[in-house]
Amino acid sequence: MELKYKTELLGTSDEDIERAAELIRQGEVVGMPTETVYGLAADAFDEKAAEKIFAAKGRPSDNPLIVHISELTMISEIAAELPQLAVTCAKRFWPGPLTMILPKTPKIPSSVSGGLDTVGVRMPSHPAARALINASGVPLAAPSANLSGSPSPTTAEHVMSDMNGRIPAIIDGGECEAGVESTVICFEQDAIKILRPGRITAQMLMEVTPDIRIDKGVLNKVDSSEPVASPGMKYKHYSPKAEVFLIDGTSEQFAKYIAEQDVKNAMCIVFDSSDMGGLKIPFISIGSTAVEQAHKLFSALRDADKNGAKVVFARCPKTDGVGLAVYNRLIRAAAFRVIKL
Ligand code: TXA
Ligand code: MG
Repeated sequence: MELKYKTELLGTSDEDIERAAELIRQGEVVGMPTETVYGLAADAFDEKAAEKIFAAKGRPSDNPLIVHISELTMISEIAAELPQLAVTCAKRFWPGPLTMILPKTPKIPSSVSGGLDTVGVRMPSHPAARALINASGVPLAAPSANLSGSPSPTTAEHVMSDMNGRIPAIIDGGECEAGVESTVICFEQDAIKILRPGRITAQMLMEVTPDIRIDKGVLNKVDSSEPVASPGMKYKHYSPKAEVFLIDGTSEQFAKYIAEQDVKNAMCIVFDSSDMGGLKIPFISIGSTAVEQAHKLFSALRDADKNGAKVVFARCPKTDGVGLAVYNRLIRAAAFRVIKL
């Protein structure tokens, strides 16, 4: 892609939000902070603007975008139907990191929905995202603001490193709180199916309905020729340039395994101080709780690249609660290479 923009870094003042909103109204794409990860935002009703998002990311056109709203009333122009369960979820979890897949209205261009007759909708809680939606006066279609395939950006600096020259502006709203993308769900009668796990966990969704299903693509590799519930799951994802291996074992087994490796330019992603004793390979620690791990994971993958790592050995996270989101991202970053100790 031609790098035609001198990408501006904006703050979150009223004037800067207005400047960004003006760009959106002109059909441009703006880097937007959210509580999950940064997004690449454009007018969700503008087919051409949505096409610019795909071009900036280098994203396959069949992978749909999420539409962001700031008020529940905006949903009537986006979703053709709102099941009762969706209303309950909206009341319980919005604003917040939950995306619901719903039948779309004709107003949503097919470039936004990736040719599907459904659309993902979410109401972010980040004040700058909400301010931008309000100032633009339209819902904003926004995928994560990384180049297709790379780890999602959790700081404005990450967005700049992927998007410099490709978009006119980025709003710097600080480091994203969650660090992993929203939980994506769809509805199957009285059941909720998780298509992508995130900070809103299966346990939390059980407050709304007891029947929570987890799509098989969450934990398993999806064949690119198979039809999938969420097109994003079939693509190579979240990968740093380094080759990532997920090492499944205790911290002692991990330390022993690392001691036996004789590789140059390797790096470890570990959890906490109990993992660090005597590791001869440089490491990045992402914390002992799943919430901390989610917060730091993508930035650790980007740091591995910055440090020139060719191989990354990462400890295998637990798969309960928010851990399922961490595992889902790491297993894809590792292209499903797991070494079981
Ligand atoms: O937290 C997030 O969700 C961030 C921020 C910016 O809001 N956005 C984000 O967007 O992660 P993206 O495009 O990187 O991921 C959207 C995921 C993809 O896996 C896509 O396939 C799925 O949601 N998705 C979107 N619309 C869908 C639809 N109509 N049916 C099934 N899956 C859909
Ligand atoms: Mg993404």
